Amino acid sequence: MRKKIVAANWKMHLSLNEGKELVHDILKGLQGLDEHKLTVIATPFVHLNQTAGQLQGHSHIYLGAQNCHTEAMGAYTGEISAPMLKSVGVTYVIVGHSERREYFKEDNTMLAKKTDIALHNGLQVIFCCGEHLEIRDANTQNAFVEKQIVESLFHLNAEQLQNVVIAYEPIWAIGTGRTASSQQAQDMHVHIRNVISSKYGQVAANNMSILYGGSCKPSNAEELFACPDVDGGLIGGAALKADDFLFIIDAMTKA
Ligand code: PGA
Repeated sequence: MRKKIVAANWKMHLSLNEGKELVHDILKGLQGLDEHKLTVIATPFVHLNQTAGQLQGHSHIYLGAQNCHTEAMGAYTGEISAPMLKSVGVTYVIVGHSERREYFKEDNTMLAKKTDIALHNGLQVIFCCGEHLEIRDANTQNAFVEKQIVESLFHLNAEQLQNVVIAYEPIWAIGTGRTASSQQAQDMHVHIRNVISSKYGQVAANNMSILYGGSCKPSNAEELFACPDVDGGLIGGAALKADDFLFIIDAMTKA
């Protein structure tokens, strides 16, 4: 049985106190989770230690980070490594978010390295993929997303792949209010599962959690999560309000 996951991506939002309040409110309202229905909160780095403390003693809600460096340590001023994340209690790390790809020029080769170092240090990876609007308009999104997955994940062995979750995030839907239709999400998730199956077999593909991201919010979460191949969501804007985020978690647990 594959896991369903709703993961918050706070991006570069919230002061330390605001983050504390938000986590407090989420924990207060949280219900319905179990070992197959999880939540992740990916905070900015400076929040990690505080949030780790707040999550202590709570089950099925995990701490996430939004990025890590390709190297374990060294002279990389301003960067954060996978072992450091592990040392503060991080379980999941987002790798290859489209904002990192676009603004920080992270390419498939670099993301393969980030995936490696994260897995090597015992972190689980939320690997993001997804196409630009021009690619969707040209109807070449399947080949584009396949290339992202092949070039960044296909060097992994089957055991390593078990610690990877894929998040499909069409770039044209991120923060724009324009959501992919549930049919578009479902079609791409089936495609991604087929890509995984072609290399790792049907069982591995069936076990892979594939999340949808891009303007997922209370008004569309139920419909998106009702799709058989949508195993939850990576939530940006709507994860910054406790009520909205709890509603989305609820939609996942009931789907
Ligand atoms: P959004 O962001 O929900 O604000 O569109 C999703 C993401 O970028 O992970």
